[in-house]
Amino acid sequence: MPDSNAPAEALRHRFLTLEILRYNPQEAGSLPRLQSYRIEEADGMTLFIALNEIRTRQDPTLQFDFVCRAGICGSCAMMVNGRPRLACRTLTLDYPDHITLTPLPFFELIGDLSVNTGKWMRGMSERLATWLHGREETVDVTRIEERMEPEVAEAIYEMDRCVECGCCVAACGTAQMREDFVGAVGFGKIARFRLDPRDTRTDDDFYEVIGDDRGVFGCMSLLACHDVCPKNLPLQTQIAFLRRKMAMVG
Ligand code: SF4
Ligand code: SF4
Ligand code: FES
Repeated sequence: MPDSNAPAEALRHRFLTLEILRYNPQEAGSLPRLQSYRIEEADGMTLFIALNEIRTRQDPTLQFDFVCRAGICGSCAMMVNGRPRLACRTLTLDYPDHITLTPLPFFELIGDLSVNTGKWMRGMSERLATWLHGREETVDVTRIEERMEPEVAEAIYEMDRCVECGCCVAACGTAQMREDFVGAVGFGKIARFRLDPRDTRTDDDFYEVIGDDRGVFGCMSLLACHDVCPKNLPLQTQIAFLRRKMAMVG
């Protein structure tokens, strides 16, 4: 029961200051700068709601991405006080009243908080061939689906939960130094197809795509990727396992 005698002051929401990096590389003369916005916090407010509020009421030019608002599409990732996070799954209440938002580093900047993770993910995916390499050229849709042990299916499903948000790459020291590094998201994809009994590729084949400094041997194993993954994928276990396997092939 709310205390009806409580001073009105105590029932008020906080005012938040959001400092946002503004820069539009497509616009001549645009220079990177931090711009401050002040908004009143609402119950259950996420950073996505706060940004939407700013764009609707204060500044329609603010660029940021979102699709699902439910942590599923991976498009709203950004740096929140220096750490990669999904804006739609981040409550303002968990932060002090001053929050700094900058775009994910490493990826091509579209403008303000919007980056082109999709272009990088596609390039990585094509390079690592992250699709099922089955025995047959064509899929027979009339055939009964292949059986799989439940624990194998579960392990594959666990890795398939990746939403390709790019948080793991943004937090990765190696990725900041070499742009051709496949990142934890790339390792996760390889681990997923390695687990899949329907995939005909051998460890020698996987070594061809991740058995160098752009792959597992460039990884410093400090596991920032594991710490920031918003889907809590078992990146630590999978990276350690892949490193061991690839070292045995090499
Ligand atoms: S592994 Fe995690 S952090 Fe990396 S892209 Fe997938 S969901 Fe995002
Ligand atoms: S453990 Fe490897 S992939 Fe993960 S952040 Fe460190 S260098 Fe990057
Ligand atoms: S809007 Fe889809 S993950 Fe945040």
